[in-house]
Amino acid sequence: MNSLVRRTHHLHQLWRTYCSAPAAASRNTGRPSYEEFIGQQQGQAQRSIIVQVSSEKSYAELYNYCSRFGSILGAHHYCVRQDEALHYVLLEYATAGEAAAAIDAGVTNGELSGVPVRSPFLWFRAAAAAGARRGPKLTAAPAPAALLSVDGNRPVEKDHLLSVLRSASNIEEQVELLHQHSRLNELGVRLRFLAALQVQQAIAGMFPTAQALPFGSSVNGFGKMGCDLDLILRFDNDTGGGGSAAKLEPSRLVYHTKENLSNGRSQTQRHMECFGDMLHLFLPGVCHVRRILQARVPIIKYHHEHLDLEIDLSMSNLTGYYMSELLYMFGELDVRVRPLTFSIRRWAQSCGLTNPSPGRWISNFSLTCLVMFFLQQLRQPILPTISALTKAAEPSDMRITEDGINCTFARDLERLAFRSRNQSSLSELLLQFFEFYSQFDFHNRAISLNEGRALAKPDHSAMYIVNPLEQLLNVSKNVSLEECERLRIEVRNAAWVLESEVESASLSPEASEGHNNKNNNNERLEMSWGLLNLFKQPEKAVIRPNMFFKPRMVEVSDLFEQKESSSAPTASPSPSTPEPTITYKSASVRQQVQTIKAATRSELKQLRGSANGSSAAPANSPKNRRSSR
Ligand code: GTP
Ligand code: MG
Repeated sequence: MNSLVRRTHHLHQLWRTYCSAPAAASRNTGRPSYEEFIGQQQGQAQRSIIVQVSSEKSYAELYNYCSRFGSILGAHHYCVRQDEALHYVLLEYATAGEAAAAIDAGVTNGELSGVPVRSPFLWFRAAAAAGARRGPKLTAAPAPAALLSVDGNRPVEKDHLLSVLRSASNIEEQVELLHQHSRLNELGVRLRFLAALQVQQAIAGMFPTAQALPFGSSVNGFGKMGCDLDLILRFDNDTGGGGSAAKLEPSRLVYHTKENLSNGRSQTQRHMECFGDMLHLFLPGVCHVRRILQARVPIIKYHHEHLDLEIDLSMSNLTGYYMSELLYMFGELDVRVRPLTFSIRRWAQSCGLTNPSPGRWISNFSLTCLVMFFLQQLRQPILPTISALTKAAEPSDMRITEDGINCTFARDLERLAFRSRNQSSLSELLLQFFEFYSQFDFHNRAISLNEGRALAKPDHSAMYIVNPLEQLLNVSKNVSLEECERLRIEVRNAAWVLESEVESASLSPEASEGHNNKNNNNERLEMSWGLLNLFKQPEKAVIRPNMFFKPRMVEVSDLFEQKESSSAPTASPSPSTPEPTITYKSASVRQQVQTIKAATRSELKQLRGSANGSSAAPANSPKNRRSSR
């Protein structure tokens, strides 16, 4: 018993040493800086292995077997769902050496003819199949610590999320809950760093200092469960602020090196092709390898079947990595930033503005830039400008990429001394975001996160977001005029819906007396309210309320064909120019258009009715109120 207590105490100390405390004392109010966070996660991956098991019930046996290689600090179970669920356990040892010992103890699967590769991905076969010779028996089998997660990488079910959001007490809480339930969890981050380590270890013999670095939403704090993994493979350790090696006397022993004869870009493409082949042919779990080498930043895409993960691997352009650092810092600066961005990303997805595949629509990254810019330009800014960060940089913050792009900015948030006095709630900010972009002049203005203000647009792109780290480029160059217009319409719709929601929330049971709270709460649990009304599917989208936003007011009659207008008793007089006859190729589209028209007509009728009763809508009604920012 005493030995069990001692062992538990020892494990607890190891856990505190390796897991809970930041690797280095952080400069940022006790929270790890981006580099510290990346370093901690890389260390954790080096201490971990992933073992396929027949189900989570095998955990006790696995723990017992694997404890012979070292102290197991923690274990997570997860499933990959194909035709059937495949089960895996991630084991974290106290040291990288112990994990390496477990991997080194692995043997080749004699039943398969593939090339045996050493990697942290293993399979726990049944005891009988392991052969007659058993390994050394442990004198006392340690009791396994409970699994830290069971089926731990399963994204929240939509219905469950909806019921959680319905049960919230107000819109603020809905925004918080959406963030908590959909963000990438700890296991998701661990699995992504293991995917990176696998690539790194595969080439470590020839390239011992190479690093595969995760970036993008997997590490910047804006990722949701199931997000892809963006990886950059670096051959020289050039991401930090000049290591101690620079201060040492330069070695007189120089590696012989093969010289590149072709130009940089085609050389990178050739190397990537070669790495793509290597991943495809040798690395366990890697499948569906695709080479996209003509893109501005060439990438290799692949799927990892043991992690259920889509991965984009690049080898050039570190700016994406540093951009992720900027977004990570913005997320750390104010607790409202991430929940707000999650709600906006979810809204954009639900109304079809964003799409997982790239195209003429706005990307999640550009959308995130829109949110950051909105938070910078507020009268009481919530985020600093990037040029403020650049001005506050110290020599240790200097980062220049190999192609000469300056990614220098202050990494120490404390020294920046930026304190926001903005007290707005999440629902206020959400509404202000929609109102801000429903009035933003995308036609003439460019968005600059560097300056925190709009600039004159340098070209005719439909949407212009100055690339924060390469200021001559436009992050949203891909966005078409049509998609930009759609965004403007959708933000107006959202402002309209949310304003009504905020207003009805202020008349909620708690706010008004004489209501039966219990009944009302039950009703709220059944119905869609608050944020949920923003997340309706595109086909259920509200009528485009363009008419309610001056000065872009349009004549309602413009919405109707002449024939239909004149047949409807309440419609406007015939427009001066006859409408062209529209032929609908799809009956369902025709049906949808007719439904929208009918709904608009009845809306119009009601408006006319109320306008006759009182010459105008109330000054503070959602329809009349202008941006309150
Ligand atoms: P999701 O994958 O949609 O969850 O979001 P993401 O932020 O990971 O976006 P994406 O995979 O498209 O891009 C990965 C990262 O690359 C982003 O987070 C940025 O840090 C960076 N990035 C993408 N596009 C640009 C760009 O045009 N300029 C710069 N500097 N960085 C970019
Ligand atoms: Mg990504």
